[in-house]
Amino acid sequence: MCGIVGYIGKASAPSILISGLKRLEYRGYDSAGMAVIEDGKVVITKAPGKVAALNERARNEWPASRFTDSRAGIAHTRWATHGPPTEANAHPHADQSGGIALVHNGIIENYRPLRTRLEAKGHLFLSETDTEVLSHLVGDCYQGDLFQAVCDALHQVEGTFGIAVISATEPGRIITARRGSPIVIGVGDGESIIASDASAIISHTRQVIYLEDNDIAIVTADHVEIRDLNRVPVTREVAELGFDAEAAEKGGFEHFMLKEIHEQPDALRNAIRGRLDFNLGTSVLSGMGTSPRDLAEVQRVILLGCGTSLHAGLVGEYAFEDLADTHAEVHQAAEFRYRNPLVNRSDLVVAISQSGETADTLAAVREANQKGAFVMGLCNVVGSTIARETGRGVYLHAGPEISVASTKAFTCQVAVLLMMALKLGRGRRFSRDEGMRLAREIEAIPTLVEQVVAQSDAISRIAKSYADNEHAFFIGRGYLYPVALEGALKLKEISYIHAEGYHAAELKHGPIALLVDGTPVIALANDVPGKDKTLGNVEECRARGARILGIITSGDHEAAAAMDDVIEVPACHPLVATIPTAVALQLLAYHIARHRGCEIDQPRNLAKSVTVE
Ligand code: F6R
Repeated sequence: MCGIVGYIGKASAPSILISGLKRLEYRGYDSAGMAVIEDGKVVITKAPGKVAALNERARNEWPASRFTDSRAGIAHTRWATHGPPTEANAHPHADQSGGIALVHNGIIENYRPLRTRLEAKGHLFLSETDTEVLSHLVGDCYQGDLFQAVCDALHQVEGTFGIAVISATEPGRIITARRGSPIVIGVGDGESIIASDASAIISHTRQVIYLEDNDIAIVTADHVEIRDLNRVPVTREVAELGFDAEAAEKGGFEHFMLKEIHEQPDALRNAIRGRLDFNLGTSVLSGMGTSPRDLAEVQRVILLGCGTSLHAGLVGEYAFEDLADTHAEVHQAAEFRYRNPLVNRSDLVVAISQSGETADTLAAVREANQKGAFVMGLCNVVGSTIARETGRGVYLHAGPEISVASTKAFTCQVAVLLMMALKLGRGRRFSRDEGMRLAREIEAIPTLVEQVVAQSDAISRIAKSYADNEHAFFIGRGYLYPVALEGALKLKEISYIHAEGYHAAELKHGPIALLVDGTPVIALANDVPGKDKTLGNVEECRARGARILGIITSGDHEAAAAMDDVIEVPACHPLVATIPTAVALQLLAYHIARHRGCEIDQPRNLAKSVTVE
């Protein structure tokens, strides 16, 4: 999704802006631009497409001195919402005078009436964007103090924003503000960097300040002053970033996605480490902030998420019901606040989000808070908005996930949900011994995943023979049904093969009409309860000519005999089996996409963090 970088300090602003934008590329975008202050003027350059195209344009069109001498500027990668990804619609946008430039993430909902009002005053707009309206509004409010102008403008807008603004007449400062769209300020030595995501900051400094909603900051090279929109000073802590720049690089892998698949044993170890108590046969998740008595009062668990996080929630639903005897339900987060959900004080609401910034999940969190539920976050990105707004929860500790397609976040989400279910279950039905046994199964997850990751080359060979198909079906039942959905999502998003996930029993209720000779059906037929029925469904597909790729338990000859091809995953607890099985499907999707020559880390039309509704 859109990315913001701003720089003010002693170094070349354009070079730092470009390298910052490159670090945000993983979020997905379709045009880019930057603005710097030079000799009392704001100079803006934009380009549709990649950051490399913007860099090339600036290098070709700008005098070399602008690169060496400019000390302040703002830049942006845009993911189109209002108007197509053209140069005109790309950010930064100037105001009517051309002396102010602004970059913006989020959506200004009342931009149409604002635009009409400004047009009546003689403003001319060059783009279709809501952002240009905001920059004109700031210009309209400007009376010699950019900070005051931004405050006055933001009082008039409805919607969400993370912004950075510069003015030709105030070259020594950048004004930045947020409401619903993250802004982080890196505090360096004689330099400050503003970004929508800490990845753009980490190579400069680890000292950061996270803005809260309705904060507005005056940022200079050596000072950050934060106020609210009424100019009242507020205090925000300086935090220390916990991951380093190298961790965000590819580390020798061809794609971030492959690196992140391979990182899973370690990511899972980090997610599990110190959280299992083998003496008491339970888990220790202090971030949940719950006493055994609090947990005893929980009557229902509501899991919220989108996309891959929604699928993790579906596995969690089974886990809470089976392990903790607790009624659980999953809600697609975007729908939650529109259906007037019945939520009460005895509900435990778990918001699942890798980025912690997904707008729909955040809105659902706010709805659940309104209804008085006990809300917690299950996020990967530390300090993200959902993590902060829930105020309690469990971090995944999976490390930065750069590839747009989520992999290690999913398996860590499932592992953490299993630990949450163990904790709840221990207070309800598990004896100490049963709890200890499940804790041992969870502890073994990283080793199980290692055994699947080691098969990457073999899976690549199988993948090659499926790479020319344009359709595929994934089937599973029980705990493996959500994994079938996730397998189909992974394949479709990175290979552009039309893939559908179904409950194994559901195909015969309609979709089986689509099976013709050679249609791939990926059957999750691990040796867990329900396997025999899934094998029956496999026969139904085979009878229609489908080609069956089975994910089976190692050494299961009966299941192997029912398949055309197999990928074996180690035997384990049926709920735990969701994790190695998902990893096998991640590798399958990755290798199919690679054989098809797809742009794996940044699939078309997709963004890493979806901060619009
Ligand atoms: C798919 C994928 C998306 C995200 C979804 C939610 O591979 O990455 O479906 O899972 O956009 O994102 P988070 O987890 O950041 O809330």
